[in-house]
Parts: sequence; C-alpha cells; structure tokens
Amino acid sequence: PKKLRILGIESSCDDTAAAIVNCQGDILSEVIYSQNALHATYGGIVPSIAAESHTVNMPFVIKEALDKAGLKVSDLDAVAVTRGPGLPGSLGVCLNAAKTLAAVYEKPLIGVHHMEAHALVARMGNTDKLQFPFLCLLISGGHTMLVVANDVNDYKILGSTLDDSIGEAFDKVSRHLSIPDKTSSISFGEALEKYAKKGDPNRFKLPIPLNKSDSSSSTNFSFSGLKSAVFRIIDSDQFTTCEFTNQADMAASFQYTATKHLLNKINNSYKKLATDGIFLKSFVVSGGVARNMYIRSNIEKFCLSNNLVPHFPAPKLCTDNGVMIAWAGIERFKKNLIDPYSITFIQRWPL
Ligand code: KG4
Ligand code: ZN
Repeated sequence: PKKLRILGIESSCDDTAAAIVNCQGDILSEVIYSQNALHATYGGIVPSIAAESHTVNMPFVIKEALDKAGLKVSDLDAVAVTRGPGLPGSLGVCLNAAKTLAAVYEKPLIGVHHMEAHALVARMGNTDKLQFPFLCLLISGGHTMLVVANDVNDYKILGSTLDDSIGEAFDKVSRHLSIPDKTSSISFGEALEKYAKKGDPNRFKLPIPLNKSDSSSSTNFSFSGLKSAVFRIIDSDQFTTCEFTNQADMAASFQYTATKHLLNKINNSYKKLATDGIFLKSFVVSGGVARNMYIRSNIEKFCLSNNLVPHFPAPKLCTDNGVMIAWAGIERFKKNLIDPYSITFIQRWPL
C-alpha cells in the first residue's frame, strides 16, 4: 500500500519551517530558517520583522523541503499548515502559501493547531507505544499548559498560565542577566540553561509561585511574579550582571524555582485526576522549553515515582518546526479532518 506523504508548513512565530513526513513517521525532509539572530538585538520578537522575514524565506524553505525529499507537490497526499495561534502577520504567510499550493494542485488542506502539533509529534513513529489518552505538558514561548489528550482534536485543559508563559520568563530573565551573546543563534532559554549548569541553585531564595495546595489556582501556572522577584535582585546595588558567578547562580536559582513550580502543579493535577478515577499511563512533555535537560530529568523522576511513562520528543522537534505540523497533518488526515481552501488564520485559538 502507498504511504501517505504530507508537507507541513509553519511560520506562526519567528521560525520559517517546512518538512515532509510519511504516515510511518519517517522524516523525508526538514528545513528551518531560524530568526533567533535577527531578533536578538531588539530584546524580543518584532512582529513586523518576523512577518517580512517569513515572506522573504518561505518560497525557498518550501522548495528546499520538496527538493531534499526528491518530491514534487503533485506527489503529496495533502498540505498541512499552522492555522494558529500565533502572530497574525506570521500566520498569514504560511497559511497563504499552503492554501495556494493545495488549491492549485487540488490537494487536501489541513489547518493545524500549533499546540496540538507540539503534543502529537511525540507519537511520530511511536503510535503503538504512546496511545490516547495521555497527560501532556506543553511549555513554550507562547504557552504553558497541562492537558489530557483524549484523542486527535480532543483535549481537556487541566491548567494554564495566569500571566507569562514559562518560555517568556526564561527569555526575559536570560536577557536581564545579559547572558546570551547577541550574535549567537541559540535561544535565550537555552543560553540560560547553559549558565545554570555552572551555578548554585540555592544561592538566591526565590518565591515558588502559587505555592499553596489549597489555592483556587492549584493547577494553574504563573511566572510573572517569579520573574519580577529575579529582576528586583538583579537591579539591586549589590548585584552586577557582568560577574559570571552572579549570572550562573541566578540562572540556576531561577531554573530550580521554575521547575519546582512546574512539578507542584503537575503533581496537583495528577492527584486531582486520580481522585476523579482517571489514571493515565503516559506523560508527554513538549514545546521549546521541553528541550531543557534539567526540567526533563526532574519530570523523569516524577514519572518514576508515579508510574507514568515519560515521552520527550527529540530536542529539535520540541522547538517550532515543520515536522510536527506535517505529522499532525498525518494524524488529522487519517481522521478525515480536512479544511476548505477558504480558511483564515486564528490568532487566539484555545486548544
Ligand atoms: O515552541 P517554541 O519554539 O516556540 C513557541 O511556540 O513559543 O518555544 C520557544 C521557547 C523560547 O522561549 C525559548 O527560549 C525556549 O523555548 N527554550 C528553552 C530552551 N530551549 C528553548 N527554554 C529553556 N531551556 C532551553 N534549553
Ligand atoms: Zn511552539
């Protein structure tokens, strides 16, 4: 039997990406043009610059993905694309590219929720070991949420952030500590993790957010208070950001506290599920921040003591990429979840 092959296109934020994946989960090609270096000097992603860069690069990214796989558009079974959530100017670029290709070549179009793609990529080449339902922590620059994935297109949100996302907090703390080299192409979060490895996590005592198990938001997350507490120390007279020990110790203390908060909330949600008689076997952790090895190893420990099997997508599949969109396309195609060529992007889109 012929294997399904789907092209996935992603430009919801600051990476232009395309990839071709088949129904067995083989990656036939993958291309990413990262904008990390482009935005590094601005202290954040500049939406208009992101959109312009996607417009410049998208045709070449898609062509390269096809060329690397040795395929033509006519060989594809469908075109999948990020429909939202994300930056409007960025989403418009991938959506129009996908819609035009699909319509001209009369291929099925599949609009994908970006966070569903982050979650489902854990099943790529792994569908027998990782079956629905499963618990899923999605931690990225745009989102922080804990969900139960009941099936493709069927998610129940257990908790999400009340303010900043965890990725935002990593990025802002990293920048405030003047950690990253502005010419570097790695993300601010990854740069912070590197410093944290050499720091003392107990040097600065930071407040663990929402740290009362009886509080009404016991399954929600919050990172802005922690971020502010870090900023207050950094901005004080005794602290200088050009001293490596200070930078490393603060990076480690922040990472330790943020991880502690994550685990508290995961634990609360997990216990709540159990009292409702819901016992899940697998735990997926995905999204850009899931690249963080300190967070991974702590979640692994939690899984070990709670009879959960952890599933971490490969680090390169945790940050935004085209493969996860193509794979979500495969999963949705199999369920006949096809969209009309007239779809528009959805900037804010609950999972
Ligand atoms: O999923 P993603 O690529 O984009 C969004 O959908 O938001 O996530 C990007 C986020 C950024 O905040 C980046 O700093 C963070 O993931 N990140 C990390 C690490 N690698 C990427 N945060 C902490 N530790 C890392 N190793
Ligand atoms: Zn993402």
